[in-house]
Amino acid sequence: MNVKETLNVASEELMKTGSLDAKLEAEVLLRHVLKIDRAAMFRDLDEDVSIEDSGNIASLVKRRAQREPLAYITGFKEFYGLPFIVSEDVLIPRQETELLVDAAIVQAKALDKNEILIVDVGTGSGAIAVSLALNIPASNIIAVDISEAALAIADDNRRAHGLYSRVKLRRGNLLDPITDKIDILVSNPPYIRSERLTSLQEEVLKEPLVALDGGYDGLELVKRLLFQAVDKMSNPGAILFEIDSDQAFEAVKLSQQFFPSAITTVLKDLSNDERAILIEIR
Ligand SMILES: C[S@@+](CC[C@H](N)C(=O)[O-])C[C@H]1O[C@@H](n2cnc3c(N)ncnc32)[C@H](O)[C@@H]1O
Repeated sequence: MNVKETLNVASEELMKTGSLDAKLEAEVLLRHVLKIDRAAMFRDLDEDVSIEDSGNIASLVKRRAQREPLAYITGFKEFYGLPFIVSEDVLIPRQETELLVDAAIVQAKALDKNEILIVDVGTGSGAIAVSLALNIPASNIIAVDISEAALAIADDNRRAHGLYSRVKLRRGNLLDPITDKIDILVSNPPYIRSERLTSLQEEVLKEPLVALDGGYDGLELVKRLLFQAVDKMSNPGAILFEIDSDQAFEAVKLSQQFFPSAITTVLKDLSNDERAILIEIR
């Protein structure tokens, strides 16, 4: 079979499983195996695909048909315009989380300091930490996670982006490993209500439970994080954390309870959903 025929077979297989992006996903898997970019794929549509490569493409298509997320199959995900290594040990970084990075950059500019300590709690792949380090030259980042396996992936990513000395990794529970005063605290914590976990999409259920489960009301970790943050934040400083779109009311209430004299704002993502809380400590 040539490239075009292989693509058609792969996309038909994926379509059978109800995938809405079957064609695009078939392309990604084919290009991953053949190690070619999109332009080369279109240029070589009539070229033959070797039996070995055809077999490899078929086996990746099978994995995708079994609802394994595309990013786990290719081992990569783009976030904030940057490539990140991912595995089933980490949450796949989501586009809506880029909002936290944008907002943290604005806060860092407003602080106008020569050195800014940023802490990323629940760093997972390190996507937020690495994006911030690359976009805020004055920053030093401490990225915390409770999962040793996640930190190994974050380590790969900080090295791949040449940030070994500016992004420190700490294993621990929320802010336990942090002893210095924090200028900006960023977190995309697990925030799904425990009772909702079983009704999640099959792909999402392949992600680590520790990255998803936010306890009874989804805000268990946020409560503990804000409680710890009271004694660890600099003034001025800022806290940014991601929420589910229906958690804004409760999250604002909690924020005001722990930081009564700060300014608390709800931030919306590109889909206009309430997606993050900003606490400005002044
Ligand atoms: C929703 S994921 C976010 C991953 C990454 N920051 C992102 O946005 O793609 C939450 C992360 O928090 C970590 N985590 C869960 N409980 C934690 C805790 N008590 N202390 C520190 N990290 C925790 C999980 O291991 C997971 O990597």
